[in-house]
Amino acid sequence: KDYNNCFPKDFLWGGALAANQAEGAYLEDGKQLSSADMVTGGTKDKPRMFAPRIVKGVYYPSHTAIDFYHHHKEDIALFGEMGFKMLRISINWARIFPNGDDLEPNEKGLQFYDEIFAECQKYGIEPMVTLCHYEIPWNLVKKYKGFYSKKTIEFFVRYAKTCFNRYKDKVKYWLTFNEINCATIAEGGYNGLGLLQKKDLLNDELIPLADLTDNAQERFEALHNEFVASALAVSAGHKIKADFLIGCMINRITWYPLTPNPDDILACQTKNRIFNDFAGDVMVRGSYPTYIFSYFEDNNIDYSFITKKDQQILADGKVDMYTFSYYMSNCISTDPEVEHVGGNITGGARNPYLKLSEWGWHIDPQGLRYTLNLITDRYPQVPIMVVENGYGGIDKVEPDDSIHDLYRIEYLKKHIIEMQKAIVQGVPLIGYTSWGPIDIVSVGTGEMYKRYGYIYVKRNDDGTGDFSRKKKDSFYWYKKVIASNGQEL
Ligand code: BG6
Repeated sequence: KDYNNCFPKDFLWGGALAANQAEGAYLEDGKQLSSADMVTGGTKDKPRMFAPRIVKGVYYPSHTAIDFYHHHKEDIALFGEMGFKMLRISINWARIFPNGDDLEPNEKGLQFYDEIFAECQKYGIEPMVTLCHYEIPWNLVKKYKGFYSKKTIEFFVRYAKTCFNRYKDKVKYWLTFNEINCATIAEGGYNGLGLLQKKDLLNDELIPLADLTDNAQERFEALHNEFVASALAVSAGHKIKADFLIGCMINRITWYPLTPNPDDILACQTKNRIFNDFAGDVMVRGSYPTYIFSYFEDNNIDYSFITKKDQQILADGKVDMYTFSYYMSNCISTDPEVEHVGGNITGGARNPYLKLSEWGWHIDPQGLRYTLNLITDRYPQVPIMVVENGYGGIDKVEPDDSIHDLYRIEYLKKHIIEMQKAIVQGVPLIGYTSWGPIDIVSVGTGEMYKRYGYIYVKRNDDGTGDFSRKKKDSFYWYKKVIASNGQEL
């Protein structure tokens, strides 16, 4: 097969960030706390902790992050130098509506993103905006239990409309909720949904995030409210500007059965349906898929929250594109004895054919092609974008300030080769924004030590570092990849 020139001419090469992992300035210019500001730093072996208020003397990485708030001009210039065609950022809801339920937006917050889009425009970079990337205003968590309340739908739609109206001539690509499907598992309930809760938790008592109480009934109800909020935003967005492209964003962990044992095959099918397919089916097709109802029944979830009115809203607010993150595949086994490994939101059984990253994630470039093929078969009606993919590793700064991150180049190169093959096989892939083009705080462990960037940020987990930026070897490599439209890898 000839893979020359297989990327479309206007392919959207770039990178992706999230507000709470990059901006810092957590209480500046009118912003109030968001749910992400309540979670401490951790490591691979030390969990991130939570208390229902900020505990003095404790390190909260989002409060400073990499100070993108004050370095964005410099950073976007570096993205421009690499030749980015697209930059995916998220807007921090608590900058625009600091308490979530305010009636009027915070002008200073709106201005910050005006500046970002103006910088992007300078370098010919198309912005893509996620409205809600794993955080909601903390006040909404406290007062309304996040998306468990129908009121939060109303607040989200007000926020979405405000952003659409303000930025309609600057932003065309929008995503409503980051990795919305993570809410299908207990570990994913706290972040975007705002279900940070545990009865009797004292104000200063820090507990591991994983120890928060999970209530599947509330979690699926809150997820339903997110679907409704997203669909209402999609419909409103199309009224504001007909050519907006608004997408779903799904965390794809490609699951393989560990063995041909039919028990493993069926367990894997269920896992793929609930985790990978369910949310995309609702958002692309506009209705709940049949298989989810038996899952609800098996798990004693009363789904009377799916009203006729909501069904109509979902049908009217279908997304225009399918976007997803891909870092790894995992295996499913029904044998309790098999070895397990980690993952960004959930781990799985060890695949003996694959290597692991330093954080114990399977490295599986072919899994990306497999996933792209699956998505195309399932949703042939919409374009697809990979909006997160990357290698979180430990970088060493040499005495001459160079950083030879060949492992990162290797990882990205192999994934891009599989994208080429997928495109040749007919996948309508329109863009690729790799994760963390500049080092940012890790969401899973809350540390800076795990780095994804083409650009190094001098900031350490003990709070030291002057936030200066340095180009890694991968910076020059990615620049070449973009300039050659994916030919020179
Ligand atoms: C994705 C999230 O799941 O994984 C990002 O959307 C996150 O916010 C990324 O940073 C990588 O995970 P981690 O834990 O290495 O930061």
